[in-house]
Amino acid sequence: MLKNQEIIDQMTLEEKASLMSGKNFWNTQDIERLNIPSIMLTDGPHGLRKQGGKADHLGLNKSIPSTCFPTAATLANSWDESLLHDVGYYIGSEAVDENVSVLLGPGLNIKRNPLGGRNFEYFSEDPFLSGKLAASMTRGIQSNGISACPKHFAVNSQEHLRMTIDEIVDERALHEIYLEGFRLAVEEGEPKTLMSAYNKVNGEYANEHLYLMQEVLYHQWNYEGVVVTDWGGNNDRIKGLLAGNQLEMPSTGGITDQEIVHAIKSNELEEDVLDQSVDRLLTLIFDTRSADTKKAVETKHHHEAAVEAAKRSMVLLKNEQDILPLQSGQTIAIIGDFADVPRYQGAGSSLVQPTRLPSPWEALQKTSLTLSGYAKGFKRFGGSSTKLKQEAAALAKESDIVLLFLGLDEGSEAEGIDRSDMKLGNNQLELVEELTNIHDNVIVILSGGSIVEMPFASKVQGIIHAYLGGQGMGEALSDILEGGYNPGGKLAETYPVHYSDVPSAPYYPGREATAEHRESIYIGYRYFDTKDIPVLFPFGYGLSYTSFEYSQMHVSSTHISLTIKNTGSRAGEEVAQLYVEPLDSHIFRARKELKGFVKVHLEPEEAKEVTIPFTENQAAYYNPAMQAWSLESGRYTLNIGSSIQDIRLSHTITIEGDDHAPPYNKEKLPSYCKADVHHIRDEEFHALLGHTPPASKWNRKKNLDHNDTLAQMKYKKGLGQMIYLLIVSIKKGLMAANKPLQANNTMFIMNMTFRQIPRFTSGKVSKKTVSRVLKIINLG
Ligand code: BGC
Repeated sequence: MLKNQEIIDQMTLEEKASLMSGKNFWNTQDIERLNIPSIMLTDGPHGLRKQGGKADHLGLNKSIPSTCFPTAATLANSWDESLLHDVGYYIGSEAVDENVSVLLGPGLNIKRNPLGGRNFEYFSEDPFLSGKLAASMTRGIQSNGISACPKHFAVNSQEHLRMTIDEIVDERALHEIYLEGFRLAVEEGEPKTLMSAYNKVNGEYANEHLYLMQEVLYHQWNYEGVVVTDWGGNNDRIKGLLAGNQLEMPSTGGITDQEIVHAIKSNELEEDVLDQSVDRLLTLIFDTRSADTKKAVETKHHHEAAVEAAKRSMVLLKNEQDILPLQSGQTIAIIGDFADVPRYQGAGSSLVQPTRLPSPWEALQKTSLTLSGYAKGFKRFGGSSTKLKQEAAALAKESDIVLLFLGLDEGSEAEGIDRSDMKLGNNQLELVEELTNIHDNVIVILSGGSIVEMPFASKVQGIIHAYLGGQGMGEALSDILEGGYNPGGKLAETYPVHYSDVPSAPYYPGREATAEHRESIYIGYRYFDTKDIPVLFPFGYGLSYTSFEYSQMHVSSTHISLTIKNTGSRAGEEVAQLYVEPLDSHIFRARKELKGFVKVHLEPEEAKEVTIPFTENQAAYYNPAMQAWSLESGRYTLNIGSSIQDIRLSHTITIEGDDHAPPYNKEKLPSYCKADVHHIRDEEFHALLGHTPPASKWNRKKNLDHNDTLAQMKYKKGLGQMIYLLIVSIKKGLMAANKPLQANNTMFIMNMTFRQIPRFTSGKVSKKTVSRVLKIINLG
């Protein structure tokens, strides 16, 4: 008996099918005669992006003003589950106020590579941290009675060709790295909605993946909610339905609903599958409508919450001779375009219109600090300017301290496009060089949602990574600089010295048909720490204006307790991190893995006992031979650190495991056993996968079909190439006109498949028309 059996019994087949796709861009279908209302789903994840007028999922058209909180990459540095809950609560209450039932976030894909265009929207390179934070945010959003929507399930690791790319990943990495965060978010956050990813995973579209959806999500994790496609992410509607995708968004003008009706009438699909999907969707609709009572959102209070969230998320990376906090009496030069025009969020579907946005320059003028002036220093989108450099140098010379605001510009990290390198603009690097040559007290404030190479790190006295701090970033930063707030953020990702050090660098991104994850489980610190590769700043690292002492570690069967003392003269926050280190493993493993953390606030001289939950099962690995988690017997060191490199306490335990046979023949995986993942040869990768993966290149000679991307027109002569070149020249024109965001959006078109054209045009361009155009293109 289904939950909504009574209503379902009254519905016609056509009515049931009509619920399976959107009514328009953001709303579900309603059925008036049965009192089934339409609900609204909208972005997310760091603020409400409700579009009043024209709809799109690229951040092109304006949305109503809402509080812009720090993006996930920023919030993750807080390592603060209660903060994530609060931020979720605030965004959720703004959603309720606007009658939005499903907020499309949090995003928790793993940062496989620093060049990922949407890294700013994701939490971490580590699944445990990502999953815990996503679960808290989900609970916070849903505490308003609405639904969160963790996304994009799963292995969505690059923007390039995100609609079609086939992510080839071995089973262990799939479970330990790419699914584990989602497991935590689902089991601990209990989201009512989950968004499937555009990409394929090992040959199947994520949205049609029977193993990922039926076996893992619904069966193993007992997921009880709804799965919505990413916008336009449906491929074969019947396969999607069978895998457990109830809602296709946005509207397809009824095209795919008819496909469902036809499949049932022709006995290709059992009506029961449709009924169960309708049942889940109705549960979501009725459940989230209970949040209909509006909340009176206090814009000012939410802005203050955004400032607080930004403060707790910024990371102090360097503080030579305690140059920070700044002292009264010092004259301070404010240099760099990012001080005046803040970079505070990323581009694409998450772009919100902030309710207010004081810049760092404005906020600093309200402090007691003595500012000697502001100089722009460089052109934001590149190109050198001697005049701007000279003005900056002149201002620096007459000041005691230089606060230099650098960053990634708006066009360099955006949905739909990956970065091409990990560098700051040349003109910015030249400016640091120039200023550090003439000044001894340069402090860099960095804005950007991703990591960058910092060739200047040893030459400056201080570095604060402000990440993308949302609309409160200016005030948060000035409070940190002035010393009103003591920073306690810790990196949720590793800062490599060079991009070439990154484990996935040789394989990223997948350029045509597939993206091979040859580095397997060795993502971020799992590689750098295991292989002892020097890094600029390690995972979990962040300084404070005070210091902490760790003592008295005790291990029980359910948790670890320890005492942390603030040994300095300022109140501050510390994050103690638990890294588990297997000593007797028979398989290749990361040297240490994050399995717990706790954040504590301490007054000067105060000491507190804190606990980190830990059970032996957390030391398990995913055993592909068993298709289950296995626990190896042997010794494990439990390390408690202030970062992965700064281990303060440790204790070795012996675990009696299940001793399943190791899944690998070690001799066939020599590079993996040495964490030597930069040159994995075909045979070794195939041995790890257990099969030969499909060709990574497109077949350039074949005729294009509905599932090919528009980018593939490049290889056709005639009409195809003409359209391709037209898109390329539009992109170039927009870049030349200094419109990087719009230019990036042309990549969305390139990466789109032909099958999506009828859907994105709500049937105005029919499938037949697309077939005809394809015929002409294929003549070329
Ligand atoms: C993005 C999603 C977003 C959706 C709706 C898609 O392009 O990948 O994250 O929620 O659009 O805007």
